[in-house]
Amino acid sequence: MKALVIGGNGFIGTALVDQLIERGIKVRVFDRYPSRFKDPVDGVEYITGDFANQGEVHQAVAGSNWVFHLAYTTLPETSNEDPVYDVRSNVIDTIQLLQECCENDVDKFVFVSSGGTVYGVPQSVPIKEEHPTDPICSYGITKLTIEKYLALFHHTKRLEYSVARIANPYGERQNPNARQGAIGVFLGCIARGQPITIYGDGQVVRDFIYIRDAAEGLIACADYVPGPDAPRVFNVGSGQGYSLNQIVDTLKKVVDVEVKVNHIPGRAVDVPSNVLDIELARKLLKWEPKVDLETGVKHAWNWIKSLSLV
Ligand SMILES: NC(=O)c1ccc[n+]([C@@H]2O[C@H](COP(=O)([O-])OP(=O)(O)OC[C@H]3O[C@@H](n4cnc5c(N)ncnc54)[C@H](O)[C@@H]3O)[C@@H](O)[C@H]2O)c1
Repeated sequence: MKALVIGGNGFIGTALVDQLIERGIKVRVFDRYPSRFKDPVDGVEYITGDFANQGEVHQAVAGSNWVFHLAYTTLPETSNEDPVYDVRSNVIDTIQLLQECCENDVDKFVFVSSGGTVYGVPQSVPIKEEHPTDPICSYGITKLTIEKYLALFHHTKRLEYSVARIANPYGERQNPNARQGAIGVFLGCIARGQPITIYGDGQVVRDFIYIRDAAEGLIACADYVPGPDAPRVFNVGSGQGYSLNQIVDTLKKVVDVEVKVNHIPGRAVDVPSNVLDIELARKLLKWEPKVDLETGVKHAWNWIKSLSLV
């Protein structure tokens, strides 16, 4: 069994690679940059390349049973600034990748979609997979478009696939200097002795999932053997909602230093509440998250402290 992880040097990718290796699966990572926070793992084959480059993708896909697609060039917050770039660099390049996977008879394609953006402003929470999808950012639209192309490639070319609509992952190797990932960014601020900045009043509710649980969810997606008309799109979250104010309270419990908070005006891309219903994944993937918020935050804080930001 050989797995290709495209974007395998990022936050979710490095966690996924660790778990694939633990399961004795041969791993090839394809990424345009090395990992910022992790040394290369023994036994993993690393290929440096851009998934926009068809020749490089062709070489990477060859011989792979599972392909996990995690590379993405845009973020929810900034994707509306240049939707043309979002479509060109994500949708078109992913369609080329799908064609490559069909030609190479890949057994399973796992796409990491976004439980936080594809539904838009929820009509009901927790959000089930069949909830209407009305994203309010280009990133959500391109994720959804790729989901639709996967269904098309399944229909026309028998490409087998699963979609993981991931909630908000947090934990080790979440970049504390990034523009997304509240828990990682907040812990980075705390470690540097800076105040946390919260958009709005802190009452927006999100579904936070510990990174190891999320990575296990992706492997469960790859392992899953669906019947002809079985669901192929799964929410992968904790199934529990926490407001940002509750997150700050949890951080205060875990960290051993003072936590200061600044509030600034809210943003148009932030939906008020997003909590995923994960019953379908529980039932069909036989997967469920195991790590509670406080334990996960402890792991994340220990890792942030090891970066010597403090
Ligand atoms: N982190 C989150 O909060 C979150 C939530 C839901 C979904 N996702 C999705 O999960 C996936 C992984 O996210 P992450 O947080 O690990 O991001 P990340 O930025 O840490 O990792 C992405 C990796 O992809 C690589 N990459 C980007 N564009 C590439 C290209 N053109 N060619 C080759 N490599 C490229 C980057 O170098 C990076 O190592 C993305 O598709 C993202 O949209 C992330």
